[in-house]
Amino acid sequence: AELGFDADAAEKGGYEHFMLKEIHEQPESLANAIRGRLDFNLGSSVLSGMGTSSRDLAEINRVVLLGCGTSLHAGLVGEYAFEDLADLHAEVHQAAEFRYRNPLIGRSDLVVAISQSGETADTLAAVREANQKGAFVMGLCNVVGSTIARETGRGVYLHAGPEISVASTKAFTCQVAVLLMIALKLARGRRYSREQGMHLAKQIDSIPEFVRATIAQNEAIAELARHYADNEHAFFIGRGCMYPVALEGALKLKEISYIHAEGYHAAELKHGPIALLEEGTPVIAIATDIPGKDKTLGNVEECRARGARILGVITEGDEEAAAYMDDVIRVPACDPLVSTIPATVALQLLAYHIARIRGCEIDQPRNLAKSVTVE
Ligand code: G6P
Repeated sequence: AELGFDADAAEKGGYEHFMLKEIHEQPESLANAIRGRLDFNLGSSVLSGMGTSSRDLAEINRVVLLGCGTSLHAGLVGEYAFEDLADLHAEVHQAAEFRYRNPLIGRSDLVVAISQSGETADTLAAVREANQKGAFVMGLCNVVGSTIARETGRGVYLHAGPEISVASTKAFTCQVAVLLMIALKLARGRRYSREQGMHLAKQIDSIPEFVRATIAQNEAIAELARHYADNEHAFFIGRGCMYPVALEGALKLKEISYIHAEGYHAAELKHGPIALLEEGTPVIAIATDIPGKDKTLGNVEECRARGARILGVITEGDEEAAAYMDDVIRVPACDPLVSTIPATVALQLLAYHIARIRGCEIDQPRNLAKSVTVE
């Protein structure tokens, strides 16, 4: 635009890219995803769209999570939530794979199809397969009235608002928040006490605040990103529920910066990938204060000994973990499953700034589409 009004800039709300705008929208989109869905008195969640009676819930023996890309990673976090909180057997399938094998599912399985757009062909095909086998199928979609939302007939909308950037950000964090609320509901019908439920409900309610505190470090993350922008490889490591966060951090970086980035379970590193480390290779370690942190710090030490440059995503105030790292991003102390959300936001900002420094087409990366409607 020459003077005054620039329609493009206005659409981006003053941000340089939709991705940055959508990262910053997360406290609000998460608040929208959570609002009205927590019952602090019962220590549970209210998800009427699930269309389940308490009898239905009691009959569920297993949760099967389906998705592709970033939505698949949200499912992997969900797997930890269902097993940890609800004592429910949970498994995650890449949606395409689910269809081309013989998935052993039936009436006692809760199938959760996760899709921002609600149009991904592989996820839709898996939904049809699960429906046909008589499973209890629900959709976890952002786009209201999308094909998957319609064909599942029940589910929970994310309310994240429109996501324009090809690289998914706010949809992922809302997917995880909703999965935690579904897990909380199932947990309360099983082994979770009212007190435990109340505690988790409060933690979930504070997610927007935890994310706001993470985004407040945007400038500092932009600064440290300069140390990582010239490398052609990067490794992300984590364990437990931070393993899927490592996968998602690596996916974000490769999507928008074209750096070859891989996410590994921290324990898997020494079974092969560690052979790739050279002087200065970036290793991004998600080492927040969750069970197993000490072991992750041990793996960080092994990487340092091979000359890697370590960026740690750690819990605020954890000076022990900070001492292992060359650079740190701090996220608020909170429940381990809840902390997957601020930890992911930190990695979204890191990927964004690295891609910006490299001059990449952030909102429309080469070869990628926002929604993949072919199998
Ligand atoms: C595409 C997008 C990804 C997204 C995936 C699944 O590959 O580029 O960002 O995670 O599709 O999309 P869905 O709409 O099903 O969540």
